[in-house]
Amino acid sequence: MPLLQVVLLAGVLLPLSAPPCSAATDTVSPGNGLAAGGRLVSNNSKFALGFFKMNDSSVSPGYSSPNTYLGIWFNKVPKLTPLWSANGESPVVDPTPPELAIAGDGNLVILDRATGSVIWSTRANTTTNATAAVLLDDGNLVLRSAANASAVFWQSFDYPTDTFFPGAKIGWNKLTGLNRRLVSRRILLNQAPGLYTLGLDPSGVGYLAWNSTVAIQSTGEWNGHYFSLAPEMIGVALPTFKFVDDEREVYFTYTLRDEAALVLTKLDVFGQGLVGTWMEDRQEWLVHYRQPLRPCDVHAVCGPFAVCGDGDGDGDAAAEPACGCLEGFAVSSPRDWALRDRRHGCARNTPLDCVTDKFYAVQQLVRSLPHGAVSVQAAASRDGCAQVCLANCSCTAYSYGEGGCSVWHGKLYSVVTQQQQQPDASSSSDGNGDVLYIRLAAKDVPDVGRKKKKIGFGIAAASAAAFLGLLIILGLVIWKTKGRKKATENAQGGIGIIAFRYADLQHATKNFSEKLGGGGFGSVFKGHLSDSSLALAVKRLDGARQGEKQFRAEVSSVGIIQHINLVKLIGFCCEGDKRLLVYEYMPNHSLDVHLFNANNDRVLDWSLRFQIAIGVARGLAYLHTGCRDCIIHCDIKPENILLDASFAPKIADFGMAKVLGREFSHAVTTMRGTIGYLAPEWISGAAVTSKVDVYSYGMVLFEITSGRRNSSQEYTEDGDYSSFFPLRAARKLLSGEIGSLVDANLHGDANLEEVERVCKVACWCIQDSEFDRPTMPEVVKFLEGLSELDMPPVPRLLNAITGESPTSPVRYYI
Ligand SMILES: *[C@@H]1O[C@H](CO)[C@@H](O)[C@H](O)[C@H]1NC(C)=O
Ligand SMILES: *[C@@H]1O[C@H](CO)[C@@H](O)[C@H](O)[C@H]1NC(C)=O
Ligand SMILES: *[C@@H]1O[C@H](CO)[C@@H](O)[C@H](O)[C@H]1NC(C)=O
Ligand SMILES: *[C@@H]1O[C@H](CO)[C@@H](O)[C@H](O)[C@H]1NC(C)=O
Ligand SMILES: *[C@@H]1O[C@H](CO)[C@@H](O)[C@H](O)[C@H]1NC(C)=O
Ligand SMILES: *[C@@H]1O[C@H](CO)[C@@H](O)[C@H](O)[C@H]1NC(C)=O
Ligand SMILES: *[C@@H]1O[C@H](CO)[C@@H](O)[C@H](O)[C@H]1NC(C)=O
Repeated sequence: MPLLQVVLLAGVLLPLSAPPCSAATDTVSPGNGLAAGGRLVSNNSKFALGFFKMNDSSVSPGYSSPNTYLGIWFNKVPKLTPLWSANGESPVVDPTPPELAIAGDGNLVILDRATGSVIWSTRANTTTNATAAVLLDDGNLVLRSAANASAVFWQSFDYPTDTFFPGAKIGWNKLTGLNRRLVSRRILLNQAPGLYTLGLDPSGVGYLAWNSTVAIQSTGEWNGHYFSLAPEMIGVALPTFKFVDDEREVYFTYTLRDEAALVLTKLDVFGQGLVGTWMEDRQEWLVHYRQPLRPCDVHAVCGPFAVCGDGDGDGDAAAEPACGCLEGFAVSSPRDWALRDRRHGCARNTPLDCVTDKFYAVQQLVRSLPHGAVSVQAAASRDGCAQVCLANCSCTAYSYGEGGCSVWHGKLYSVVTQQQQQPDASSSSDGNGDVLYIRLAAKDVPDVGRKKKKIGFGIAAASAAAFLGLLIILGLVIWKTKGRKKATENAQGGIGIIAFRYADLQHATKNFSEKLGGGGFGSVFKGHLSDSSLALAVKRLDGARQGEKQFRAEVSSVGIIQHINLVKLIGFCCEGDKRLLVYEYMPNHSLDVHLFNANNDRVLDWSLRFQIAIGVARGLAYLHTGCRDCIIHCDIKPENILLDASFAPKIADFGMAKVLGREFSHAVTTMRGTIGYLAPEWISGAAVTSKVDVYSYGMVLFEITSGRRNSSQEYTEDGDYSSFFPLRAARKLLSGEIGSLVDANLHGDANLEEVERVCKVACWCIQDSEFDRPTMPEVVKFLEGLSELDMPPVPRLLNAITGESPTSPVRYYI
């Protein structure tokens, strides 16, 4: 045994057995180490420090990593959530027994207990070997002099991993050059540093960067309240921010109003910044802030030569990008890919020979061209642009559009494709010009005339099928396009949306035999795909004109949005005059069936109703603010809220939806929607905004509470509008008698605090003036109890119903 280790074992380090959890201490001192299984707990019991391993049951059930890390987590959150880790780059690998101890020089070290070798050390310049490591109440692990607590040699807050602790600093020490920044973890299973960093540059501007070199996002400068390009910080319901820039330091920090709150602020493995709160009653993290919102907006999230399709952009679900390979490419490292480590992305099936190479067109890019374009002024045509690219062997792609000729050299990152997005083809018949031509070896370029077109995405998904959703799996199974003369200009679909053949849908629905329902635009049938157990809802649109319009609106809007509370469009069929839309099947029908059906055997209990209300609000919030363009649904009502097997709500029927560009806030004037849920501005003929959905949503909230239609016959026929539920609710709110508002079928079994919140929100949502109504993201926060609401006034139009103002447009309004 080497001398050093003998010395270490002999005296300096006294290995200890793991202290039982109940007797947890917050200190490691010479002779008082910490073994695997033991933990330090901060004096306030909020944080714990110890050795941990990560599991990822989505890799394979029960899969457990051989790597052990020393880290800090929330002591009271049963779902282990590492907040900091010491040895991400040098894990303790099974079966090595680790130990945390104070070394002879006073540093804190992780040792291999069997051999005594040092695996990790704080490597601080200690002035004494009489030190102690203490886990403080704010989660900071501090190595300090045992005799003098203010002599700190090292602290974990100076070396953050992916989590921003309240009270910690992000930024620079100008004197020592110490840069504190968040570094993403590489994969969920692993604490190794990833490629994304979040920090401040020396001038105090916040950034999110990839591979330390490519700045993905800048926050702009601090304006005294928030970073100028991140105004959404104001909306984050939690902290008090502080920005300091003096001679010694420039940093950013925050504090929580409630120190005991379990709030997680981190940079996740996919490069998104997020803020979540631990929900004690639901035992899960509720993510209420995520930036960039869509996974595919994160630079290079799928690696080189890959395509990205946004998955669920929802707060609760782990928002993961759906990654695939470009045509002519295959996953470089299937093993890493399967673990969702996408650094190596995709590689060419055949190397370029630089002589006979051809181009392959990638259609329907979403949002913008990939990063790293070089503009070529000299090329004045698409052909000229192609020639420029062919002339340089390092050129891998080009695009020719409104912005002229762009070429890309080397690895191509961040190709985001999705379903065709413009509903009104008339406005721009030749698309927006964003077609990307990828350089491929001639033999990898697919034959244009070929009937069956395989999409690289589907192939790539095969190796990672376990992780990717339904859409992708289906994309593997079926991808059929009708042969068209100009195939490159009419390529159907993008990621995830399937172009079905009519015959297949006829077969899947047993020739449209099982009808689920009908609506203004067509009928819905149940179906099954022959090769999977997946149930489908197939909507066959009637009426050439209307059907076509609704079809386009629906395909274009549902295609670009993905959210757990929006019904998923799986595919469509467009053959001759036949227009069909294919959705995931919702076994629990629509909300109206449960609310209004008197002989329904199952009454929705209050907590389900409350969850449904929140889910619908989240779906709408996403539509209004989360996706690329603002989308107004325009027809929110219980019939259009479907319930899945676990009664999670999904907003359906985008046939009336209006996609507005970000720059247009007012655009819709033609009346849409359903009487009973129409906002007053529809009736006045004014241009409308997303606040019309807020209004309709408010009306739906009242129906969820009362279990009756607002516009039920009883009110309208005998003219006694004072029993009109929204009015009654608005008045009872003021008098504080909300108990009587709840659906009698619940027999009083409801959380009155939630009922009150729901009624208050509803009443704010149906205010006459759109400016008085909250936005949907605000509604979500109110319902979740993350922000408080004032008492709403009774809407003037409602008051008018009682007859005080006979000229009011009440009749239309109800
Ligand atoms: C830990 O908390 C207790 C009270 O809860 C206090 O008396 C004690 O001084 C604290 N110890 C340290 C080291 O902060
Ligand atoms: C991983 O799995 C093991 C055994 O199933 C379990 O004891 C451990 O707590 C799990 N760790 C995490 C982080 O879930
Ligand atoms: C600290 O260092 C002194 C000499 O510098 C040594 O005598 C003593 O044993 C050391 N203490 C520990 C706990 O290692
Ligand atoms: C420790 O001291 C040496 C020499 O004074 C210095 O170069 C080094 O940067 C210091 N290390 C730390 C972590 O402060
Ligand atoms: C304790 O350490 C601090 C910081 O190094 C120092 O300023 C202070 O003088 C020390 N106090 C004593 C009693 O040594
Ligand atoms: C990150 O950048 C370095 C050079 O700055 C480069 O060598 C490395 O390949 C890059 N990593 C990736 C994954 O592209
Ligand atoms: C090809 O393009 C690269 C990157 O722009 C450039 O460095 C190189 O000089 C070019 N080669 C030729 C032969 O033009």
